Amino acid sequence: MKVISVKTSTEYNVYIGSGLAGRVGEMLAETTSPCTAFVISDENVFRLYGERVLASLANAGFRTGTFVFEPGEQSKNIETYGKIVEKMAREKLTRSDVVIALGGGVTGDISGFAAATFLRGIKYVQVPTTLLAAVDSSVGGKTAIDLNAGKNLLGAFWQPAAVFCDTDTFSTLPEAEYLNGCAEIIKYGMLGSEELFESVAALPVSLHYDAVVAKCVDMKREIVENDEFDRGGRMVLNLGHTVGHAIENKSGYMVPHGMAVAAGMCVITRAAENLAFAEKGTAERLLRVIREYGLPDGTSAPAGFPEEELAGFSAESLFEAAMNDKKASGSKLTLAVPKRVGECALLTIEKSEFIDWLRAGGLK
Ligand SMILES: NC(=O)c1ccc[n+]([C@@H]2O[C@H](COP(=O)([O-])OP(=O)(O)OC[C@H]3O[C@@H](n4cnc5c(N)ncnc54)[C@H](O)[C@@H]3O)[C@@H](O)[C@H]2O)c1
Repeated sequence: MKVISVKTSTEYNVYIGSGLAGRVGEMLAETTSPCTAFVISDENVFRLYGERVLASLANAGFRTGTFVFEPGEQSKNIETYGKIVEKMAREKLTRSDVVIALGGGVTGDISGFAAATFLRGIKYVQVPTTLLAAVDSSVGGKTAIDLNAGKNLLGAFWQPAAVFCDTDTFSTLPEAEYLNGCAEIIKYGMLGSEELFESVAALPVSLHYDAVVAKCVDMKREIVENDEFDRGGRMVLNLGHTVGHAIENKSGYMVPHGMAVAAGMCVITRAAENLAFAEKGTAERLLRVIREYGLPDGTSAPAGFPEEELAGFSAESLFEAAMNDKKASGSKLTLAVPKRVGECALLTIEKSEFIDWLRAGGLK
């Protein structure tokens, strides 16, 4: 088992290894007196891992409660949030109790937000079961739900008390969810570690989960410790995301997040090289790995999408989507731009210049 200590406004450990879902109770008991552990999960994850986590909590002396919701981003909303906190109130949770977020990023985000706001904040722990949640959303304390006006518009910074990442749970991930996580991992390699990049180029992520997740978590730890409240440096994590969000938006959220980020990363890297920000050969190295994983490169339709859908992903249409992004206010846009494999910088441009970046990135 690997342990990474995150030193933000509150300090906590991220535990990464095999069999941890069945040890949540025992490990939580080391720092938490017997209390109510309120497990929040979606139906898919609860069916697979709910009993294991509940049994471990009960064995360690915790009283348990549960809230299980329909899987998917469409559940990360005010309605589900309302049902969660009402149930927490009915179960008489106090500030001495703990919420357990068992699942992917949707579960982590909504559970974290419920924990951040219920009684003005109670303790929660993350038990990430998707690769994306393991390497990204479970660490760093960003919690949120979606509003009709846009994704993640209602949220809070609220750090977990611990993260228990059981890498065995990834064995049941659908292929698309595995690939979502791989895209984010390749992103970590691009933005800050050539060694990680080369290691996942040489060996599929699934063959060395513990080492790969630990490296990504350690990178996220450093970024978050330097910018807990997302005022600057944390924005490097957005590499590929400005274009990626526009692709997701234009496809009506049919293109999965990881595929959109992979395509976005390729577009921005090609542009960076063509505009002489990145070293020659950077895009070619990225494209080789992206294609190896079967992820889209931004100039061909993602797997399962007809080529004609690419019309929706033209430079003009993605520019329009990016300009309408509710979070991109003002006349400027900050982009995470690769300089070479393993290094990226933040670059603020006029929003109107973004179209040139999309075209330089190979979009028609
Ligand atoms: N808070 C942050 O810093 C942060 C960072 C990145 C993304 N996010 C958020 O994360 C969310 C996406 O997370 P996600 O991709 O994990 O989505 P998700 O939680 O919806 O999980 C994806 C699917 O996989 C299923 N699943 C989860 N674990 C499984 C397992 N082990 N075996 C089988 N099926 C499993 C789920 O039921 C779901 O259907 C988005 O809402 C995004 O905004 C947050």
